[in-house]
Amino acid sequence: MHGRDFRGITTAMTETGSHFAMRALKPAVFAASLIPVTLLAIRAFTGDLGANPIEAVTRDLGDWALRFLLIALAVTPVRLVTGWNQIARLRRMLGLFAFFYVCLHMLAYVGLDQFFDWPAIWRDIVKRVYITIGVAALATLVPLAVTSTDAMVRRVGGKRWRALHRIVYAAGVLGVVHYFFMIKAGYVEPAIYAAVLAVLLGVRAVRRWP
Ligand code: HEM
Repeated sequence: MHGRDFRGITTAMTETGSHFAMRALKPAVFAASLIPVTLLAIRAFTGDLGANPIEAVTRDLGDWALRFLLIALAVTPVRLVTGWNQIARLRRMLGLFAFFYVCLHMLAYVGLDQFFDWPAIWRDIVKRVYITIGVAALATLVPLAVTSTDAMVRRVGGKRWRALHRIVYAAGVLGVVHYFFMIKAGYVEPAIYAAVLAVLLGVRAVRRWP
């Protein structure tokens, strides 16, 4: 057998191996992404949410919304640094989990905190800057979630789809700013999220630098 053929076979084997690894990894990441909401449900059912359960639920879901946004944004930098291209296949799922947690976070606010009192919610959106920014962040994620299916990628067209999905950077920034405006003291946590976001966006900026 020629060396080149042998290399071709080993490359194919490596690719097949990573294909199988990805087939196992996807459901594992999916299951892991449901752990935060499961743990929160367990805490709710066992009465382990502290003195202000509604606040605890809203905040926990807000934290996970932001974490998943950053995890989804980390996929490309990790791919660039490690050369592990297959990881890109997890990006859509992680982005949709970010949207899932944002929706639950917003529902906790609308349903548990405000009891679906729409006039009061509207007053809050207009008056409290951090709620306005939260709604803006959610609004940026909606077109991304809607265009996340294969059929929509084809309909929109690859180039336009990629341009549209750059809105996710704005969602990350708005999410962090929302956190900063919400908090009254102890800026360490939002500052950590801001630093992580700066690195993830910085990697992209450096890459595009002429
Ligand atoms: C991308 C969208 C969003 C992200 C990433 C996000 C993230 C967060 C984070 C990290 C917190 C702080 C949690 C903590 O203190 O540990 C928070 C708090 C909060 N967010 Fe959001 N949020 C988003 C959208 C929204 C929307 C759409 C609403 C409501 C319409 C909202 C309402 C709130 C409220 C009311 C709090 C304060 C909870 C409390 O103190 O009881 N957020 N959010």
